[in-house]
Amino acid sequence: MFDHLHEERILILDFGSQYTQLIARRIRESHVYCEIHPYNLALEVIRAFEPRGIVLSGGPSSVHDEGAPFSDPALLTMGVPVLGICYGMQLMAQQLGGTVEKADRREYGPAVMDIDNPVELFRDVEREGVRVWMSHGDRILELPPGFSVLSRSGNSPVAAMGNPKAHLYGVQFHPEVAHTPCGKDILENFLFRICRCRPTWTMKSFVESTIENVRERVGSDHVICALSGGVDSSVVAVLLHKAIGPQLHCIFVNNGLLRKGEAESVRRIFSDHFEIDLIYVDASNIFLERLRGVKDPESKRKIIGNLFVELFEQEAARLADARYLAQGTLYPDVIESVSFKGPSATIKTHHNVGGLPERMKLRLIEPLRELFKDEVRLVGRELGLPERIIMRHPFPGPGLAIRLIGDVTAENLEILREADSIILEEIEASGWYEHVWQAFAVLLPVRSVGVMGDERTYEQVVALRAVESVDAMTADWARLPYEVLQRISNRIINEVKGVNRVVYDISSKPPSTIEWE
Ligand code: XMP
Repeated sequence: MFDHLHEERILILDFGSQYTQLIARRIRESHVYCEIHPYNLALEVIRAFEPRGIVLSGGPSSVHDEGAPFSDPALLTMGVPVLGICYGMQLMAQQLGGTVEKADRREYGPAVMDIDNPVELFRDVEREGVRVWMSHGDRILELPPGFSVLSRSGNSPVAAMGNPKAHLYGVQFHPEVAHTPCGKDILENFLFRICRCRPTWTMKSFVESTIENVRERVGSDHVICALSGGVDSSVVAVLLHKAIGPQLHCIFVNNGLLRKGEAESVRRIFSDHFEIDLIYVDASNIFLERLRGVKDPESKRKIIGNLFVELFEQEAARLADARYLAQGTLYPDVIESVSFKGPSATIKTHHNVGGLPERMKLRLIEPLRELFKDEVRLVGRELGLPERIIMRHPFPGPGLAIRLIGDVTAENLEILREADSIILEEIEASGWYEHVWQAFAVLLPVRSVGVMGDERTYEQVVALRAVESVDAMTADWARLPYEVLQRISNRIINEVKGVNRVVYDISSKPPSTIEWE
């Protein structure tokens, strides 16, 4: 079950809090390896994991609810340090013989806490007026035997409790969120003073141990990797190349729906610079042909996805020695599939190669499946990937086809590609590239009237979309300065033939989406 054991690790049991992933990221930022598992993980499995410490996450339930999630109480008496956060603390209190009071209303938002008992958990934290973030309904009425109150806030007589002898601690507030400024200190006190971890989890150590693992696993076999030029597949490719060199074969399919200069840049970086065996498939014409006359966005997606698999499979079949397929699966996809509330067992298939490993009898290699996106970027830097790839905005698999409303034609693609390239140039030049999640052009299937010199024009409209977001689930339009908008508009109208009007999309998601199709 644990295929990549790191020396000192923390186990996080997930009770469904929206912050569980944040706990994991905070712990890893402190250079300690951790994994998230469902709350009901069996005791034998917990033992086999050999955690240095366990964190019980928060969650939306009350311990009094019917069917509330309970972890095995025996994990509290294994001698392993435990930190319960919010629901995790209430569960700890209840399972060890304390009582939890059902509250009539929730306490949500900032609170100020005073520390009564400056135990190890609060080392180097101010004693009074500590700002913390609360989000809970129930509260502790009676402490379990052996526990004492460590801190109080206006609404929580027990803002933290602990039994230092047993290495058990609970906090009602959320140390993992930015609104708890001393949260990092508290978590690090737990990691370094209470669990006695050392800060050894670094991207350098990750790269080294992954290279070793891959070499051992692959032996003299060959590996295929679908390279898209995005961050994840690029990091996978370079990482595997470091491990197995010429046994890695990357396949890059140019579907003709890419941005300006993208195909050349992928060739330059991976083939010329990293000297990776890159099989370049120019399939622009086939894609264009199959998309002819197709207007419906879901049909476009299907056609593009299926054709990609078809072509990829053709190329892969030529590599008769290949036994493995490398994919850029990331940790959030893995957690989603185990978390008790998540859409169970729906591991996302990447780059549309779903089903292919079975058909071709390839085994999967997913070297990034333990990493969060920001860690993948750090690994990319560690491996010497150019900053342009590391910080690249997400780009949809179906590419420009879903940014061309209506027919996908060579002429429309050319217009969109030029407009898009101007947008990116100006966004980069203005220093906004890193502040926006995505910025791109959409070509609208309408014509409007304009004048150029003495002539009346009747040409197409480009919509500029630039959004800020943290995870693409929600997004808001970026407040780009007027001067940047003006330069983009001027340049597109002057330089892109066939466009005489530019509009700015000021819709948020929800109810709109980031892409137009
Ligand atoms: P929406 O438009 O749903 O987009 O707000 C959310 C994020 O997903 C990307 N996206 C796609 N990525 N294939 C992809 O690989 C697709 O069909 C697709 N559709 C949307 C979009 O760019 C944004 O980052």
